[in-house]
Amino acid sequence: MNTASAKRRNQTRIQLEQLPSEMFDLQRVGQEVSSGTTPLPSAGWWAMTVPSLMYVVSEVLGAPARRSVVECGSGTTTVWLAMALRHVGEGHVWSLEHDPVFAARTRQALAAQGLDDWATVIDAPLAPVDVEGEGLLWYSFSDDALPDDIDLLVVDGPPGAVAPKSRYPAFPRLGSRLVDGACLFLDDTVRPEERAVAAEWSRSPVGGRSVRAVREISRSTVMSVSVGGVSEQR
Ligand SMILES: C[S@@+](CC[C@H](N)C(=O)[O-])C[C@H]1O[C@@H](n2cnc3c(N)ncnc32)[C@H](O)[C@@H]1O
Repeated sequence: MNTASAKRRNQTRIQLEQLPSEMFDLQRVGQEVSSGTTPLPSAGWWAMTVPSLMYVVSEVLGAPARRSVVECGSGTTTVWLAMALRHVGEGHVWSLEHDPVFAARTRQALAAQGLDDWATVIDAPLAPVDVEGEGLLWYSFSDDALPDDIDLLVVDGPPGAVAPKSRYPAFPRLGSRLVDGACLFLDDTVRPEERAVAAEWSRSPVGGRSVRAVREISRSTVMSVSVGGVSEQR
């Protein structure tokens, strides 16, 4: 067996060994934050992996408080983030969604959990945006649809099939709304395209905000935002 396939097999073995504890975490946190008997939307596949989902939820449940949550790409994450905000009793998640079918699905899943007051799915069709002189397809929405004090930004869309740099505009377009010490969570950085996006964000401050990678979780990268200096990430 060559080194690459031995490495892949080893990674698969580790993932399988971790599965029971991930499912245990999911169940434990689900019991803590959900209020009803309606089944929760599942993690993995198109949705975030369990460890990534648990991480963004822990950002809401932990300290410092993350109450002003924006995400790019709605779905399971929207429901879990809204449940976590309801559990702590304050905050809101605004989720940009380009696909009306998935927007409707997410709204339905939120309604099934009684979470309408905690999350807003924003219909945001993809349209060309000018980012540093480059025309890229990204979400279109009105300026006042999102808050100006985002403390958690979860970037899990648009899908990679839209363009190799489909997620790049998130920081250039929303960076100036991020508060000092905010968390910027980019999913799928196991892919070279998203890794390149994270690296480019780290090199190019926006509106006085700079970001740096502080942790890798499952398939994702956690970045810390600082305004004019270095902020500490918990
Ligand atoms: C990676 S998904 C994001 C999902 C969400 N953040 C989550 O973890 O549940 C990015 C986008 O893909 C689309 N999408 C979601 N589920 C899909 C599926 N099963 N097949 C195709 N596209 C999907 C939606 O438009 C969504 O905004």
